[in-house]
This record gives sequence, C-alpha cells and structure tokens, in this order.
Amino acid sequence: MARKFFVGGNFKMNGTKESIKAIVKNLNEAQLDPNVEVVIAPPALYLQLAVDSLTKEGVAVSAQNVYDKPNGAFTGEISVSQLKDSGVHWTILGHSERRTLLGESDEFVASKSKYAIDNGISVIWCCGESLQEREAGQTIAVIEKQLAALAAKLTPEDWKSVVIAYEPIWAIGTGKVATVEQAQEVHEAIRKWLAANVNQTVADETRILYGGSVNAKNCKDLAKQQDIDGFLVGGASLKPEFVDIINSNQ
Ligand code: G3H
Repeated sequence: MARKFFVGGNFKMNGTKESIKAIVKNLNEAQLDPNVEVVIAPPALYLQLAVDSLTKEGVAVSAQNVYDKPNGAFTGEISVSQLKDSGVHWTILGHSERRTLLGESDEFVASKSKYAIDNGISVIWCCGESLQEREAGQTIAVIEKQLAALAAKLTPEDWKSVVIAYEPIWAIGTGKVATVEQAQEVHEAIRKWLAANVNQTVADETRILYGGSVNAKNCKDLAKQQDIDGFLVGGASLKPEFVDIINSNQ
C-alpha cells in the first residue's frame, strides 16, 4: 500500500486568535495537493477556533499533547474525550521540547500514545537525538530505544494510528536542516527496526516524517527520499510557505 504523504504544522506556543484565523484562511483558500494529508497543531486554547474555521477538505487539527487518563483531577491537562468533543482527532506526543524541557520519559510518552490510540485519537509520535548523541555515534541507538518503549505498549494493529516524526534536536528551530542523506539514513533505520521488531506490514505502511528547519527551499529534495513520507514543520508552518511545503511532493 502506498503511503500517503503527510504534512503536519506544529505551531508550538505561538499565535493569537487573529494570526491563527489568518493561517487557516490561507489554507482554506490555497490550492493543496489532494494526495497529501495535512494536520495543523495550534496551542490548546485555539484548537476549537481552528476546527471551527477550517473548511478545507484534507486538513485536520491536532493537539500538541494529551494526557493518559480519563477526565478527572489532573490540573492543567487535556483529555482524549475533550479533544474528540472539540472535533480534534490527532495529537502530537513525545516532542523533544516536552521530553527535554518537561522531563517526559520514553515510557510516559508511550503510555500517552497507547491511551490516545485506544480511545480514538491518532498520534504523531516524535523521536530524535541530540547533537551530543549524534556526535557520539549514538543516533540509531537513541531512536531504537525510543521506538522500543513505544512498541512495548502497542499492538501491531495500533500502528495504523501512528505517524512517526523523526526530528533531530539539533535541527529544530536552528536553521540547520539535516542533509537528505542524514535524514534518509535514519528513516530507513526506523523502517528496518519496525520490520524486525513489529512486522513487515507496519514497516511498509507507517508514515515517517522528517522535522527540523524544514522550509519551502529544502523540502523538495527531502520529499524525494524513499523513506521520507512528509514533514512535521515548526516555524515555517506559521508562514504562507507552509503551502509550498504541503505541495512539495508534486
Ligand atoms: O515540530 C516541529 C519541529 O520541532 C520542527 O520545528 O521547523 O521550527 O525547526 P522547526
């Protein structure tokens, strides 16, 4: 089965009502490649605004995080059922900013992923190595450890609700994009790991996105790589060039 190209826009802690309305208007009016699945992830406060303003077919809304318990006494958290109640059916989980700044462990990210999937929310699951780990030659080992924690919680069927985003930490927000060779090498290793540790179907069908300083200029070459099935875009998803990135696989 061919993997449908996927482009996510992670707005992170950016935006206002006005700017998010403008981004959504731009997407509603743009000519988007119909063969691309697009998901935008505004801050939680603006999820409903994005859901209510989006009219474009093929564009959905994602949270940037969700908790692994049902509704209850969990101050500051958002539940899976609240996302669904608001028309949100995706969440990002395990972004390196949450792993490093908020101390989220591989196991906690895996637990939240399993809870989301079991309750009907698809997951953009992020992984990636630091510069120090890359320079120490540990890139693949780091990614495999993160993958193993996730795979320990998921059934083979669960992977249908997962999109993997490989985001080298040193490339995020730095303007220092991974080379096409560096990105392809890790994406291929992820696919091989899935084949060996889950099964060949999951390896063949799971979308693996690249994230880290993707922009309108570098996206086309990255999109040509065999194992790159799309992008998770930060800074550039706030700009009109996000449309060029969505259309980079044409
Ligand atoms: O989730 C998105 C990534 O962290 C990439 O961010 O495109 O601003 O480097 P960036």
